[in-house]
Amino acid sequence: MGYRWRGMLAATALWAVAACAWAGQVEVLHWWTSGGESKSVEELKRLLASQGHTWRDFAVVGGGGDSAMSVLRARVLAGNPPAAAQIKGPAIQEWGRLNVLADLEEVATLQKWDAQLPRVVADVMKVNGRYVAVPVNVHRVNWLWINRDALLKTGLRVPNTWDEFFAVAEKMRQIGIVPVAHGGQSWQEFTTFESVVLGVGGAEFYRRAFVDLEPGALRSDTMSRSLQTFRRIKDYTDARAPGRDWNVATAMVIRGEAGMQFMGDWAKGEFLAAGKQPAKDFVCVSAPGTSRAYSFNVDSFAMFRLKDPAAIQAQKALAATIMRPEFQESFNLNKGSIPVGAGVRMDRFDLCAQESSAYFAATAMINTLVPSIAHLMAQPAGIEGAMREAVAAYWNNERMTTDETMTRLVAAAKPRLAKGIKP
Ligand code: GAL
Repeated sequence: MGYRWRGMLAATALWAVAACAWAGQVEVLHWWTSGGESKSVEELKRLLASQGHTWRDFAVVGGGGDSAMSVLRARVLAGNPPAAAQIKGPAIQEWGRLNVLADLEEVATLQKWDAQLPRVVADVMKVNGRYVAVPVNVHRVNWLWINRDALLKTGLRVPNTWDEFFAVAEKMRQIGIVPVAHGGQSWQEFTTFESVVLGVGGAEFYRRAFVDLEPGALRSDTMSRSLQTFRRIKDYTDARAPGRDWNVATAMVIRGEAGMQFMGDWAKGEFLAAGKQPAKDFVCVSAPGTSRAYSFNVDSFAMFRLKDPAAIQAQKALAATIMRPEFQESFNLNKGSIPVGAGVRMDRFDLCAQESSAYFAATAMINTLVPSIAHLMAQPAGIEGAMREAVAAYWNNERMTTDETMTRLVAAAKPRLAKGIKP
């Protein structure tokens, strides 16, 4: 005990001295380029600069991070990784197995990350029991965002069921508002689909399908009903949806051109950046049928192994800064998400964030807290990508049947099931 304590003191002293002596640069790869996202990133840059380090921005445009991940792979293969990259979920393990990630145990021990983080999050940040990544937030994916004026014009209530949702959508169409703002990119289609599956099938079904990849769930009446509900939503989107970025879709809801959007709570960051307030200008409500469930998406930064001592110090400072309560508070106030570390008070957060925070805890207790498949929390990129393409193909090709889609979903899951790996 005494020995460990002395070791910890020595490590603290060493780290503090080193941190002052070397001001380094961290190159950070991320895809946070929309209004609300950039405001959040500025906060991290500012805190790092206040410690004398410099931030080299490596932003790759593209919601959901597909392009960012391709660029990252090319950089690592060329032997020139950034100091940190926005990598999340099972992909952290995949990068860890390649032996290119830095060990963050020193900072993690000093700041007691194990005690600060929910187990479900901490486990994802570790490879072989050692921290290699640091979490930034928790996003809830299964939200529906509604322009309040547009809803008032329909004379209907906030929808809680699919029937109520389609009634509101129909009314909005009649009064000349695009009912559903959609960005026609496969990750956005998959984002909507996961909320539909959670709403139609419930959390247990969702887990059987997307976490356990059970063929009997991927091909089932419930999956078929989910696909049909999903396709009905498409009728309420506009013809200009294909290719549209998610934040452009959110802007349609902000302006009242569109009534609703299915999207994770990074959309709230856009409403806030545009000066809009929850309850007054917009409504956040659980996607129909999902009020007792929560699909989570934890953003995190994995750190790559570096050689330059100053860069290593700056990298450690970045990891430590991310876990500081003041960062977790200010970053998440802009980002739309909630803090992931313990010890952050929620009183400066709005209604949507407070609801998210309460639901995160409550759904963990009743076992309806599930990892987001569309945001790479549930499966490695290969499987997620194949499922996403199947769902997007179904959305975009009216002739594709539910049966064909389910066959593709089962086939997408095969590589993992064949290896017998449990996610
Ligand atoms: C998600 C990410 C969010 C948000 C969103 C849109 O995958 O977790 O933080 O950035 O993409 O870009």
